[in-house]
Amino acid sequence: MKILIRSAQTKQEVAFQPGETVFDAMLRSDLAPNSYCGGKGTCGKCKVRWVQKGEEYLACQLPAEEGMVIETVAKDDMQVLAQSMEKAFVLNPVVEGDRKGVGVGVAVDIGTTTMVGYLLDLTTGQELAVTSMANPQRVYGADVISRIAYTQANPDGVEKLREVLVKVLNSMIVDLCQKSRRFRGDVHAMTIAGNTVMLHTLLGVSAVSIANAP
Ligand code: FES
Repeated sequence: MKILIRSAQTKQEVAFQPGETVFDAMLRSDLAPNSYCGGKGTCGKCKVRWVQKGEEYLACQLPAEEGMVIETVAKDDMQVLAQSMEKAFVLNPVVEGDRKGVGVGVAVDIGTTTMVGYLLDLTTGQELAVTSMANPQRVYGADVISRIAYTQANPDGVEKLREVLVKVLNSMIVDLCQKSRRFRGDVHAMTIAGNTVMLHTLLGVSAVSIANAP
């Protein structure tokens, strides 16, 4: 069984299982829904238009039906702050490039809402490229507690949170290399910063204990 999901730029047929919502199907597509509540029906961000009915619905409350044509209507107007201040420091990298200017490293800050990545020359410390993206885990909840709740409610939740994060990290590396005309093989090291829940989910480790009251 399939539904068609389309936006102004693209469209995609997505398979669904009985009992799944349009939101569930969208999570597996390239047209991820907007969501702050992780599909609980409380944030109102996942609105879509059911084309045959000509009406808008919350994707997370709409059971998927064979042959549905769904249009995305929500706008993602997020702006990511990617600029930083430079400060004088003595460069002493743990990993150094093979030749001057060749070895590069990637530094990424995984925020709960947004992610920013930098490509840096390991020999000089020079910033070569910057990229930023929304944290793809947002569709499972806007805050860390919602995401932990998602992993409690879904047996494969931890793996899903890890999977979307790794996918975006890979595309950030590709973007950084393209912007600076480097090869991915030039990347010698990667440093990742994030809060405890982000780092747990990146490693595929359950962060459930963090949500428990002491
Ligand atoms: S209301 Fe549907 S994801 Fe929040």
